[in-house]
Amino acid sequence: MQGLAEQLYSELRERILAGTLEPGARLPSTRRMAADRGLARNTVIDAFDRLAGEGYIESRTGSGSFVASTLPEARLHALPPQIAAKRPPQSARAALSQRAEAVLGEVAIMEGEGFPPCVPDLSHFPFKEWQSAVSRAWRNLRQGEAAYGGPGGHIELRTAIAHHLQLSRQVRCTPAQVVVTNGAQHGLDLCARLLADAGDTALVEDPGYPGARRMFRAANLELAPVPLDEEGVAPTARHWRRRPKLVYITPSHQFPSGVVMSLSRRRALLDAAAAHGAWIIEDDYDGEFRFSGRPIASLQGIDRDQRVIYLGTFSKALFPGLRLGYLVLPEPIAPRFALAAAQLAFEGRLVTQGVLANFMRSGQFAAHVRRMRLVYEARRDLFVRTWRRELGDAAPLSGMDTGMHLLVELPAGIDRQVSEAAAAQGIAAQSLSSFYLGPPTRHGLVIGYGGVHEQAIRRHAHTLAQLVRGALRIPG
Ligand SMILES: Cc1ncc(COP(=O)(O)O)c(C=O)c1O
Repeated sequence: MQGLAEQLYSELRERILAGTLEPGARLPSTRRMAADRGLARNTVIDAFDRLAGEGYIESRTGSGSFVASTLPEARLHALPPQIAAKRPPQSARAALSQRAEAVLGEVAIMEGEGFPPCVPDLSHFPFKEWQSAVSRAWRNLRQGEAAYGGPGGHIELRTAIAHHLQLSRQVRCTPAQVVVTNGAQHGLDLCARLLADAGDTALVEDPGYPGARRMFRAANLELAPVPLDEEGVAPTARHWRRRPKLVYITPSHQFPSGVVMSLSRRRALLDAAAAHGAWIIEDDYDGEFRFSGRPIASLQGIDRDQRVIYLGTFSKALFPGLRLGYLVLPEPIAPRFALAAAQLAFEGRLVTQGVLANFMRSGQFAAHVRRMRLVYEARRDLFVRTWRRELGDAAPLSGMDTGMHLLVELPAGIDRQVSEAAAAQGIAAQSLSSFYLGPPTRHGLVIGYGGVHEQAIRRHAHTLAQLVRGALRIPG
């Protein structure tokens, strides 16, 4: 499907998701819609067919097409009916622990249409090749891969990760320092539980990544928010006096502001962490995707005191449903950390890990990352061009050299309002202030463009720019 049919499909899908076309609402006939819009009837039929195929609308013979009562997205995340029916009533909420309530109380990262911040593109991943590799691995199952497996994960994957990180991120490590995890979130959980005790303090960037805060809260750690400046996170003596056990940072591309930590700040942070006996968790979630300037080496690579735990994920470089990531631990603690991690979970899934190891060894991983860097760069450029054409410098952009999100800067007080107005039109554009623990000092919109197709970037950027224009009272 292409051109006008695609446009019509997207428009109707968005209106359905935004609720402006309500569940059960009747759509005009294809003939009527074609006439109203000056389109060929086949164009409308194509769009309707796709919407029906994906479950957004239902066609009833003789009576026309209706918006489905359950949308595919909702269905995907819904519980099976027999479980949903047994859901506890609202009054039973107190039954969860205080830690669980704190986890649930964290700000949710937006999903869905528009510019959700954490979504990679899935349309370019070579799923066919991946599927063949997985089938091949099961056909030729090696006995060891069906067993419990040793601490740290599949040795071939640990080796491939170490090799990749040495080359591309200047991480200094051996395979023995690598622990394979179920994504960054699991890595954070392990750090919180194996490197800190309940009541210990974790310094976190403010604004910062709610996923990390969730894990620290689940481990009963005290969170101490640290403000950012233009060089990155800026802890002062006051923060160090709290004797933090953990310092969580995203130096390559601060989440969500996009600030890149300067070299002098990196050195100062390493020195202070060593002096105070704190562990630094370096979350390098999208460092592979740097578009311009020199590649920024990892903080871990310049650490002389073995205080940095390097945290990585395949969620952005490959796909989030893979649920694989890794930690690189300082040599002195790696073996016991890996052992404790294994004793907590006996991870398994060695077949998938073996497939990923091959994918990395064969060069397919590096090729995919290279390809995606170009895709993301093109999408970023498209957003930037569209935005600047719409608004000039009225709402400047920053944090754009890396990753798959950037920041639209706005004056204080309007980012939540614009974000809500955009959500009402079915466009996710999360406010920067929603990511703060303390009072927000910067304001704006976090624009995730990674998983957004080109046409949608143009359309949503235009709508969002109109909303910003209104909020800034720019005429025209
Ligand atoms: C800052 C940050 N860290 C890590 C992740 C990835 O987490 P995971 O590997 O658990 O999918 C994300 C994803 O959105 C992120 O934004």
